Amino acid sequence: MDKIVSLSKRRGFVFPSSEIYGGLGSSYDYGHYGVLLKDNVKARWLEAMVRERDDIVALDSSIILHPDVWRASGHVGGFSDPLVDCRFCKQRFREDHLETEQCGKRPSKKPGETAECDLTEPRQFNLMFQTRVGAMEESGVDVYLRPETAQGIFINFKNVAQIARRRPPFGIAQVGKAFRNEITPGNFIFRTLEFEQMEMEFFVPPAEADEWYRYWVAERLAWHVRYGVRESHLRVRPHDPDELSHYSSATSDIEYLFPMGWSELEGIANRGDYDLTQHTEASGTKLEWVDAGTGERFVPHVIEPALGVNRSMLTFLLDAYDEEVVGERDRTVLRLHPQLAPVKAAVLPLVGKDAAMVEKARGLFDELRRHYSVEYDDNGAIGRRYRRQDEIGTPYGLTIDEQTLEDETVTVRDRDSLAQERLPIGGVRARIGELLAADWRSPKSELST
Ligand code: GAP
Repeated sequence: MDKIVSLSKRRGFVFPSSEIYGGLGSSYDYGHYGVLLKDNVKARWLEAMVRERDDIVALDSSIILHPDVWRASGHVGGFSDPLVDCRFCKQRFREDHLETEQCGKRPSKKPGETAECDLTEPRQFNLMFQTRVGAMEESGVDVYLRPETAQGIFINFKNVAQIARRRPPFGIAQVGKAFRNEITPGNFIFRTLEFEQMEMEFFVPPAEADEWYRYWVAERLAWHVRYGVRESHLRVRPHDPDELSHYSSATSDIEYLFPMGWSELEGIANRGDYDLTQHTEASGTKLEWVDAGTGERFVPHVIEPALGVNRSMLTFLLDAYDEEVVGERDRTVLRLHPQLAPVKAAVLPLVGKDAAMVEKARGLFDELRRHYSVEYDDNGAIGRRYRRQDEIGTPYGLTIDEQTLEDETVTVRDRDSLAQERLPIGGVRARIGELLAADWRSPKSELST
């Protein structure tokens, strides 16, 4: 994790937030490559959920909803963590994480492990951030920043069902920010105060809920593998009955082997009819499916795959990170799936001061940038420029050299194998397109057990 934190800062993926003011715990800002990578993660998710299917539509609901939404959903009453305080060092811990947390004492100990460590009884601490809507303090209304995107989908069920003109099974997908007052810091962007979620609520006839639950667990696991996460580092863990949320009859976590151990990457829950029923009762609007032809009506059950964009990005970074020695020199390389890589190709004139090479390279760069995220770099030794691109995970390096000036060909260097092929300059755009569209498997998969 330390290596990813350091590379993220050095190369401009992720910065600690408010750093010049000493930082703010569990908050991060995303730099240029972080934004591009995060956008690619969201694009691949939306493709798989919406573009490649004809049974799911998109939605973008508000972050601030009517406060009754959160009363009906159970979040006001029950979205809380049990917290304990240490009377000695004043640190606060999640009671259910005491086994894995470290207290402030040196050498580091688990909370409660030493005699001085005097822990209070657990108290429930609501995770929702509160704010006020309204110009005046006295007449304003208390509202919450949404702690999940899901509720915005449930309260729009009627609107969407009408325009989607589909009978269940059908789904509604949403990508957007969520906020939680998490007190457990650490582990970089794994758990933060604000983050983005990619959630999809799939509405199904009640009798089909189990079947669709199993379908979505398999489908979501396959998505992580499709985009390069090693299968050896993924597993599905069904929740024990005493772990289930109040709304769920079955939940499975897709877990990744993070540096701190197996932890939740994505959750897939069978939420039954809990949410639609709660909102029907609280709002007085019937959220049910009615067949206009036969008059048949039922409250659909909901299967929900829910994944954090930032946690997914962290997983891709961790899984892609590699170090090797090439020609007696160390190389750090991010073996990201080409479709996730922030930059697809780097155009590099071999000699940065050679006017003819620079002109050719800029011509190729201008052509490619209309289609792909590409970079031009003529600054410094070619080896250093390659290393920089390797560290941000650029899959293809395009070098313009003496031979290009003679026969209009360029070399394409593959980030992972370091193999080089020579191509006519006019064929580069199509070749990059072919390479990006091809199936891809992490070369680390072959090595991992
Ligand atoms: N609607 C269901 C729901 O929100 P969740 O397990 O609390 O379920 C879903 O969250 C996913 O959102 C998690 O699997 C994780 O990827 C991500 N997530 C949750 N809390 C997060 C946090 N504080 N920071 C970053 N990602 C988080």
